[in-house]
Amino acid sequence: MLQDSQIRKLVRQLVSQSLPITSMKGLETNNFIPGKTRIQYSGPTWDSKEIEEAIFALLRGKWLSAGENVYNFEEEFSKFVGKKYSVMCNSGSSANLLMLSALKSRRTFGFKEIEVITPVVCFPTTVAPIVQCGFKPKFIDVEMDTLNLDLDQLERAITSKTKAIIFAHVLGNPPDMDRLMNICRKKKIILLEDACDALGSNWRGKPLGSFGLMSSHSFYAAHHITAGEGGMVSTNNKIIADVIRSMAWWGRACTCVGFANLSLKGECGRRFSKWLRPKYCGILDHKYVYKEIGYNLKPLDLQGAIGLVQLKKLLQLKKARQRIFKNYYDALKKYPKLIKMAKPSVNADANWFGFSITVITNRFSRNDLVSYLENRSIQTRNYFSGNILFHTPYAYLGNPHDYPNACQVMERTFFIGVQPNMSDEMIGYVRDSLDGFLKRYQ
Ligand SMILES: Cc1ncc(COP(=O)(O)O)c(C=O)c1O
Repeated sequence: MLQDSQIRKLVRQLVSQSLPITSMKGLETNNFIPGKTRIQYSGPTWDSKEIEEAIFALLRGKWLSAGENVYNFEEEFSKFVGKKYSVMCNSGSSANLLMLSALKSRRTFGFKEIEVITPVVCFPTTVAPIVQCGFKPKFIDVEMDTLNLDLDQLERAITSKTKAIIFAHVLGNPPDMDRLMNICRKKKIILLEDACDALGSNWRGKPLGSFGLMSSHSFYAAHHITAGEGGMVSTNNKIIADVIRSMAWWGRACTCVGFANLSLKGECGRRFSKWLRPKYCGILDHKYVYKEIGYNLKPLDLQGAIGLVQLKKLLQLKKARQRIFKNYYDALKKYPKLIKMAKPSVNADANWFGFSITVITNRFSRNDLVSYLENRSIQTRNYFSGNILFHTPYAYLGNPHDYPNACQVMERTFFIGVQPNMSDEMIGYVRDSLDGFLKRYQ
């Protein structure tokens, strides 16, 4: 039987024979062929360490599903994002579903038919759980500088029925958080922060994801750090954290995780007790007592193991993202009559998820520029849904034309990546391609 250290050494040797193409070193050492090598808008930035830890979690983990690695990742993540508690789940979409579902619990607010304000330009699963939870989405438009929710409209939209706001920081760049927090305080509105695209960004030095009563995060392959898939909800409120844990774990009352999950008597020391008294007086295992109407949204333990490695690299990856963003921004600011780029918010230190461009001239269309880039093997993306009300399942929720800026985003905005493992040659190729296109119309 091999010792753990010997296994690790063997795995490391094996993986180093074939460094993943997505590693920080991988792309630099690969031969880049301009126009042929596809420049992805995003993707995992992994080294052998992630693979080593994933394999080790499979070999030595006591519980393939969420166990010690997930628990340790939750602890480290809470410290990073500046919240007391974090609960890992299987995706950022699930994290959003959990945040909204938590508002319904008898142990929190017990909300039933409330209004939740949200920007009409969004990622679909920021809005979908509002409807899935039986709440009413109330849409507001976005402002064109950052594509974030328009705070003037937010103030006007709040009514006595409004109990919460959910929004995503657009491509890692926040709205004016001072003003937003003031509005929430003044009007007693709950803020749910979708920070899926904003991990590592700050506002006045405070991490995004630490502002809302709850915040959601994603570890999907496209995101700042990735476990392939995965999500997290963070909060300072212990009751909410327990509700979220319960909802993600079948509705289970027992909240033992990591080592505690395997302990004989549970963390409370009362695992086998009369939990359902006075209605039922028999002794029950707490693991089969239910406190919420739940789901199963748990991650695998190896996702926690990978997340732990990735989290340590986040600030290094952020520097690379910021460098690429600045490179493009500086080169293209000479075209203010042709394009509008995302404006970095004052007081923010954004960990950019992408570089957005809105075409503001009528001399060429977004599709002209997008086709040009795609033909040069540079991947592009729409800003997610654009105006969500144009999409069939959401159409009954309102008239898309009531939101003129969202219509502009639908028609004119796209983004390219700032993938941290791009070599200087690749960055230069993307920048010069954009410059080459735009200067024809100058
Ligand atoms: C802003 C935003 N919210 C939520 C999600 C959903 O996250 P996941 O893909 O992990 O479900 C995404 C995208 O992936 C996103 O960009």
